Amino acid sequence: MDTKKIVEMDRSHVVYSWHAQGDVNPIIMDHAQGIYQWDTDGKKYIDFCSGLLNINIGHGNKHVLDAMKTQMDKLCYVGTMFGTEPKARLAKMISEVTPGDLDYTFFTNGGAESIENAIKAARMFTGRHKIYSRWRSYHGATAGAITLTGDPRRWAAEPGIPGVVKFFGPYPYHDPFGGKTEEETNRKALEVLKTQIMLDGPHTIAAIFMEPVVGTNGIIIPNKEYMQGVRQLCDENGILLVIDETMAGWGRSGKWFAIEHFDVIPDIITTAKGLTSGYVQLGAMIWNKKLWDYFYDHPFVGGLTYAGHALACTAGIANIEVYKSENLIENSAVVGEHLKKRLLELKEKHACVGDVRAIGLWAALEFTSDKKTRAPLAGFNNSIQNVAGVFTKRLAELGLTLFAKWDFVFIAPPLIITKEQIDDAVAIIDEALKVVDAKIK
Ligand SMILES: Cc1ncc(COP(=O)(O)O)c(C=O)c1O
Repeated sequence: MDTKKIVEMDRSHVVYSWHAQGDVNPIIMDHAQGIYQWDTDGKKYIDFCSGLLNINIGHGNKHVLDAMKTQMDKLCYVGTMFGTEPKARLAKMISEVTPGDLDYTFFTNGGAESIENAIKAARMFTGRHKIYSRWRSYHGATAGAITLTGDPRRWAAEPGIPGVVKFFGPYPYHDPFGGKTEEETNRKALEVLKTQIMLDGPHTIAAIFMEPVVGTNGIIIPNKEYMQGVRQLCDENGILLVIDETMAGWGRSGKWFAIEHFDVIPDIITTAKGLTSGYVQLGAMIWNKKLWDYFYDHPFVGGLTYAGHALACTAGIANIEVYKSENLIENSAVVGEHLKKRLLELKEKHACVGDVRAIGLWAALEFTSDKKTRAPLAGFNNSIQNVAGVFTKRLAELGLTLFAKWDFVFIAPPLIITKEQIDDAVAIIDEALKVVDAKIK
């Protein structure tokens, strides 16, 4: 069909997320393979953000597609009261790659639903009501998950669900505690959290929810001492630690799950995205043995029509097989080092790049208008001069798509990417950054 006709139908009938509808002007994508996608006019783009940071194994993987086609002919779905081989096999395979005793999976349809169910599980298990989550976090767009979220996407949903309490995590580039070094920032964040829990009443707190590495609020990476300190605070006070690996999991950080960087084992992991790399939607809430034992003789009061969808679980199984057979977790760590090196070069070269944060094949550039003072360029929740819009438009002209907002540029290519392909992409970013440099007075 003619691109004009598709655009016309799209802009007359499709409602897009997070935007005023009049501001939406989508590129119409037609097909994709590996790290590339093509629009309906045949233009090729490097997908440097893996869709929405979910297509970890890359587009059009034949092993996954074949497995799904075979399963589709056999069985797509049965009621959740029945077992199926794909559901059982995937749960077992997940238990083999998760850390510690996180061996028990409740399937959902995405990241937000996993959070909703983890809130319920934590409250049922502890008999406590408060849920702690961080400023500068994202946990999903459903009622509970958006209340836990610590960024402007929450505002429209306020007052949200009761009992949610926010705290600050470490953010060395703009430290809310005035720390001068990364260590100081992390230490102060932990001390403040400890005091907050004391004042709030530890016996009222069911769980602390955290992204192991902050995702859509800027790829903010804590240190080991901070994460281990939070685990210790939880242990001392009977609080559950729930780690949201929706974006961080499945090799994105160079390990199966980002929490492994910190030698911490949470009580619950929530995840989605790379579990099926978006071939079909699936999420998971994964419990440790303590949770499993409790719910062995207490009902888990939660359910979803599509929990454990046979076709989705087949996609999950085939994805894990691809992660293993193509060494994608290792590739993420190795090629990720190359990506980091190349991005640090961009920081040296461009006045607008204030900070580069990277872990595995997951990175952010943070723009600044002044490297010395670290003053923002676009600003928080802002699009002064439409920095992200102008930058992504230029990138698209040059044949690369990624996600950028405010002063953040998110880089997260499929884990199959090679060093040479990284170099191609960095050359495009290098060129496009000139339009951002030009905005600095
Ligand atoms: C850390 C985190 N949690 C939860 C979600 C929500 O996942 P979903 O959109 O699948 O509900 C996201 C989505 O980006 C996320 O990054």
